[in-house]
Amino acid sequence: MTTKTSTNSDLRSGAAKAGPGFDGRALRDAFGSFATGVTIVTTSGPAGADIGFTANSFSSVSLDPPMVLWSLARTSLSIDAFRNCAHFAVHILSADQEALSARFASKSIDRFGGLALDRGPDGIPMLQDCMARFACKLAYQYEGGDHVIFVGEILDFSHSARKPLVFHGGRYGMLLPKQTAAAEPADALSNLSSDDLLYQVSNAYFRTRHAVIDKLEHHGWSAEEYAALSIIGREDGLRIPEIVARSEKLRGQAISAAIVQKLIAHRLLREVDSTDGHARVRLTPEGRLSVLELIAIRKSSEADVQGSLDPSEVQLLKHLLSRLGNSADAVTSA
Ligand SMILES: Cc1cc2nc3c(=O)[nH]c(=O)nc-3n(C[C@H](O)[C@H](O)[C@H](O)COP(=O)(O)O)c2cc1C
Repeated sequence: MTTKTSTNSDLRSGAAKAGPGFDGRALRDAFGSFATGVTIVTTSGPAGADIGFTANSFSSVSLDPPMVLWSLARTSLSIDAFRNCAHFAVHILSADQEALSARFASKSIDRFGGLALDRGPDGIPMLQDCMARFACKLAYQYEGGDHVIFVGEILDFSHSARKPLVFHGGRYGMLLPKQTAAAEPADALSNLSSDDLLYQVSNAYFRTRHAVIDKLEHHGWSAEEYAALSIIGREDGLRIPEIVARSEKLRGQAISAAIVQKLIAHRLLREVDSTDGHARVRLTPEGRLSVLELIAIRKSSEADVQGSLDPSEVQLLKHLLSRLGNSADAVTSA
């Protein structure tokens, strides 16, 4: 088979070299451009020791008979255990199992320490609570350069519908299913459609904010009181005009100074003279308790509005909203 080298300047120059003179870094980068899931492969060593390591070289091979493969570096400390094993297990990790992946790729950790295990054929360790799990009989092994390729026949498997952990370009990631493109809006008014980003952001903001305000009111707090107390909770000792200014920046609408005065009258806040002679507002012990109560209300309505989103989607949403906010800042300051 001949290998065609590319002259496309977009490709990394090292990858365009032919033959054994490849730039190792560039080749590694080129391999890393293939997005994979992440697995942990386990077996038992000769003295019954639990053995396992993180692998993204996993691939399904055959449905009938059911077979999978993965490869292990010949320099691996586990190579002899896998070469001599009769059975192994492959565990596919979900998006929230990045720490487990890191643990099974680290040499300085007791990889199985404290983990709840099931036992498979020959007593091989089977991790619990993974997205999918295959117990396999070792069927073949092939030399593959500096790796050994192991092929297993599946004896048993389980699977649950979760979001997978993804590995790409040397970094962990999450899967974001592509959305089908929305139809072109018929006119300017229908531009305010589900495809309009700013509409979606403000619509989500107002709807989630309502959910929080409803809950606050249910507990006898107004949105303005919540804003004032949470600003002072974060930055005790502000002056009243500073609290008002911060509230405008945070909410797009300033609270009135009268709200702060009301909280002072209710002994949740107190005014103290600072060294510069300007009165500053501090939380009283009762005020501190109220801030804790408000945080609890806020957390509980946050859990309500997250509804059907899973933790990885929540993490992704926070990340994207923060990036959106930063790019909006860059536009306004340009
Ligand atoms: C996401 C990820 C995927 C990996 N995939 C493989 C792989 O497929 N094969 C391999 O030999 N090493 C792979 N590694 C590296 C091993 O997990 C790591 O070198 C481990 O220390 C090997 O353990 P051992 O030497 O104790 O056997 C991967 C590491 C990570 C973080």
